[in-house]
Amino acid sequence: MKRWTVQTVTEAKGKTKLGCVTAYDAAFARLADEAGVPIILVGDSMGNNVLGYANTLNVELEDTLRAVGAVSRGAKDALVVADLPFGTYQAGQDRAVENAVKCIKAGADAVKLEGASVEVCLLIRRLVESGIPVLAHVGMQPQSVNVYGGFKKQGKTREAAAKVMADAKAVEAAGAFMVTLECIPAELAAEITAALSIPTIGIGAGPVCDAQWLVMHDLLGLNERVPGFVRKYADLAAVVRDAFKAYVADVAASAFP
Ligand code: KIV
Repeated sequence: MKRWTVQTVTEAKGKTKLGCVTAYDAAFARLADEAGVPIILVGDSMGNNVLGYANTLNVELEDTLRAVGAVSRGAKDALVVADLPFGTYQAGQDRAVENAVKCIKAGADAVKLEGASVEVCLLIRRLVESGIPVLAHVGMQPQSVNVYGGFKKQGKTREAAAKVMADAKAVEAAGAFMVTLECIPAELAAEITAALSIPTIGIGAGPVCDAQWLVMHDLLGLNERVPGFVRKYADLAAVVRDAFKAYVADVAASAFP
């Protein structure tokens, strides 16, 4: 298998739909990579899935850098994308570029950031001009959970849909190589996918996107509660719990070691 690059991901638009996942450590990144997953995101969903927080806002750049290093050592062929944590790209462009550079030096091939404001689009352009590919993120932006007052589907009214479409076009014009569409109506995601020349990657945005994200812990059945759009491809929680139980019982019964 050839290594996935920004170019091969872009060229897949309209030809092959890409099933992509998050991962946060070397062991799972290696398994995803061996399974042929084209893009692995070191998501700030590490906050909920690994660090035990209620949302993504507490993730620090150091958490991401450590995980990016591990994932990039585990994955041989997948494109590794670092999700810039909340607070690492909002306080000025120079700081944002420095933080994105740290992610690339830690092993990422690209960075992801949320939003499509004028400031964010200028930052996307500057990052790309500095040699850092950017995967954009519009629709529901989890780092804005406190602005929304909860994780709420976006783009539901005609005006809101027009705003998400305009955001997607703005990040494309700014130079993003791909755009995440999170929690928007499927019809809107289909319209955006048709309107853009860069690939879209959906999560809770219906089947018509060029690619899909699934959070690894949701896909593998490690989370008890998952969003309605998730499909569990395994029940690892049960497998792992049973293995721990069997081990504890074996030790108690002097059956191990
Ligand atoms: O951090 C995350 O898991 C994400 C999703 C869009 C995949 O950003």
